[in-house]
Amino acid sequence: MNKCLICDNSFNPFVDFGNMPIANAFSTKKELENEYLFSMKVGFCENCNMVQLLEQPDREKMFHDNYAFFSSTSNYMISHFRKFSNSVTSLQNLDQKSFVVEIGSNDGIMLQNFVSDKIPCLGIEPSKNVAEVSKSKGIEVITEFFDKLLADKISKNYQKADAILSANVMCHIPYMHSIYEGVKTLLNEEGVFIFEDPYLGEIIEKTSFDQIYDEHVFLFSALSISHIANMHDLELVNVEPQITHGGSMRYTIAHKGVKQVSQNVISLIKKEKEIGLDRNDAYLDFTASVNKIKNDLIELLNNLKNAGKKVVAYGATSKSTTVTNYFGITPNLVECIYDTTPIKQNKYSPGAHIPVLPYDQFRDSNPDYVLLFAWNHSEEIMKKEIDFMGDQRHWITYIPNVKVS
Ligand code: SAM
Ligand code: TMP
Repeated sequence: MNKCLICDNSFNPFVDFGNMPIANAFSTKKELENEYLFSMKVGFCENCNMVQLLEQPDREKMFHDNYAFFSSTSNYMISHFRKFSNSVTSLQNLDQKSFVVEIGSNDGIMLQNFVSDKIPCLGIEPSKNVAEVSKSKGIEVITEFFDKLLADKISKNYQKADAILSANVMCHIPYMHSIYEGVKTLLNEEGVFIFEDPYLGEIIEKTSFDQIYDEHVFLFSALSISHIANMHDLELVNVEPQITHGGSMRYTIAHKGVKQVSQNVISLIKKEKEIGLDRNDAYLDFTASVNKIKNDLIELLNNLKNAGKKVVAYGATSKSTTVTNYFGITPNLVECIYDTTPIKQNKYSPGAHIPVLPYDQFRDSNPDYVLLFAWNHSEEIMKKEIDFMGDQRHWITYIPNVKVS
């Protein structure tokens, strides 16, 4: 039995992905000699409704000076964060006297908007290489991990925050109580904590199992977020679905009793209970669906190989590490992965060791089939490649099920 990271209750895993490497550890041949692996199992706590990894690598193994995920590789995400910033400015009536803190500010994709709008802000970003990019955009950044201690320092050295923001970061942090204690300290009386992460309801509905990897220690729902907020005298006051990262949820949290709880929260919690997110059965069905995708995709890739077709992949995503390693996809089935991120190029994918090549070489490679690992950016990517793909080349996607188009 394992103990819940939120409430200490005991629970069992509902899926075991086996040994997994660090999802973003795109490495040279030499680095692969000492590849780190951990056992990736996922469980559901029936007491507080939190879905979580049973084991997570140390944070320094995932977030460091060579972190491979740069937020600004997608134009869609750049405009998403412009809209996010605008919505916070209008919700909180932000001006030059306000203060915004972002946890996990990466290359500055969100805070660059507050800098250009002259709203004081501060980024917290422990991965130094991505933090450097944001500093070059004129953003002030503390290159440390956010927690209660750091929140105390910021409250003392700066001012209390009108808004604490975070995107695709909260679900990475196992020491969640320290985060909520920090938020409670740092938020001013009317302040809001707004964060978004891949949404459990979408993951279960779409079988997007590849959202599960080392960094994602939690998969959140309104049920689990309202539980933990309550534990810290905070309150979930709004939820807004997002289409980003294959289906995310934006949660707004305030000091308890200060803001009105939106009808959205009540409706979403009701829906989550209807689809069974508070019961173990939904998770067992999910595991069966994952294994069906596994069998279908491997069968397709084997058939294509036997027919002499050239199959390459598009987007060396962190998500693809779960797919390649759990399914057993090696360079024997998928020749290489094309990606626009310089730090990933001319390296090998974690665990499966598929070569990652610069996107510039994609079209010359003349593939018959392209396995889309970056399926969450499918609209942007398929639009960009429509002429190249034509009628004679095909996309392979696997969420919610295996499809050739
Ligand atoms: N917010 C960006 C976005 O949505 O594109 C970046 C998301 S990236 C997947 C996660 C980021 O969180 C990394 O840049 C990582 O260094 C940072 N991070 C991890 N733990 C953190 C912590 N305790 N405090 C602040 N940032 C953290
Ligand atoms: P993400 O799914 O974690 O956002 O990562 C997307 C990956 O896909 C990232 O490594 C960049 C890559 N990518 C491309 O190579 N071409 C593209 O057009 C887009 C949008 C992403």
